[in-house]
Amino acid sequence: MSPSATVIAPSAASKLALEGGTPISPKPIPFMSTALFPADIDAATAVLKSGMLRAAKKCEELEQRFAKMTDAKHMMTCANGTCALQLAYEPLFNPGDEILVPAWSYIATVSMVVARGCTPVFVDAIPETYQIDMKDAAKKVTSKTRGIAATHLYGCPVDIDAVQALAAKHSLKVVYDAAQSHLATWKGKGIGAFGDAVTYSFYATKNLATGEGGSISCNDDALARKIKLLRSHGETDKYLHESVGYNYRMNDITGAIGCSRLDRLDAQTRQRQASAARFDAIIAKIPGLTPPATTPGGTAVFHLYVVKMDTTGFRCTRDEFCKALAAEGVPTAIHYPRPLPKQPALAKWDRKDCPVSDRLSTQVFALPMHHDLTDDHFRIVGEALNKVAAAYRA
Ligand SMILES: Cc1ncc(COP(=O)(O)O)c(C=O)c1O
Repeated sequence: MSPSATVIAPSAASKLALEGGTPISPKPIPFMSTALFPADIDAATAVLKSGMLRAAKKCEELEQRFAKMTDAKHMMTCANGTCALQLAYEPLFNPGDEILVPAWSYIATVSMVVARGCTPVFVDAIPETYQIDMKDAAKKVTSKTRGIAATHLYGCPVDIDAVQALAAKHSLKVVYDAAQSHLATWKGKGIGAFGDAVTYSFYATKNLATGEGGSISCNDDALARKIKLLRSHGETDKYLHESVGYNYRMNDITGAIGCSRLDRLDAQTRQRQASAARFDAIIAKIPGLTPPATTPGGTAVFHLYVVKMDTTGFRCTRDEFCKALAAEGVPTAIHYPRPLPKQPALAKWDRKDCPVSDRLSTQVFALPMHHDLTDDHFRIVGEALNKVAAAYRA
């Protein structure tokens, strides 16, 4: 190939790939990185060879190590993050209780409140951090309010001081949904140190991923006992059932993968944080796009890196902008296309007063975020964002 053949004419370079121009990257860059390492496969294989497939030593090891890493006293593994929420809510909330919940989160945080027979009271989000707005929460406390279910969304801690202050004022129980926030910290401590219980998901795409899986942490011995009983049919001795419960146990193949991946979680979290800083620098220079803000006092672990678009600054919608980015080789994802009060399953409780969450559903998109991003990926994302923003600027 002659040197001149590699030169792209300026018009072709600036014409959107969507409209027949040359894409910034001919191949989409990976949105996430989920591949197992050989050590993970060896760990799972060792359990398979042992024949001890039920929850045993590997689940216990995962519980002990993850508790320590998150500053929690007790950690109970379970089948997934949804079960984790159920296991946390059931001993803490009673049917009929009003529970303050985020309007901006994944559905499980709220649907398991409903499954418990409680009434969800939607609280709006802070536009900069996307986290639950505790000023709005304070306005929504009634004589029936008994709890707060707050999500540390996208890897960013909520304002834990504000949550705990409101809880103390009104004697509320607090469950933090940390499905997206493994190893996040608050004022130098692991998030496991705060609230009545903290729940995690180990779903295949999470920062700590075992395929399916989850856990609950708490610092109260009696609550830990209740959760362990609920997790396994209230069984206190072989075929002796003290209370009614479920089978929400993890298994040791999953536990082994979790332990193996836990070896890398700290380093991979730091890689995510460094990647977020690089994206921040790129986005800060593009008018109309805003990087995510972190709650002061919290250290985020960037399960997702979510950008906000001021749609009034562009001649396109957020979805059209993302379509153009995809054509340039940059995949994005929308977390979430609708706020929870607008979900058909939850519409019964919509009080039409979460305007920030409504707006976010048309403004935000997530960029590729994982521990395997390379210099070339950052270049591609930067060039694609600049190209699409310039093409659509109002
Ligand atoms: C915030 C949040 N809560 C709960 C869950 C439920 O976890 P799982 O899919 O493991 O049941 C998820 C999973 O996506 C989540 O993101």
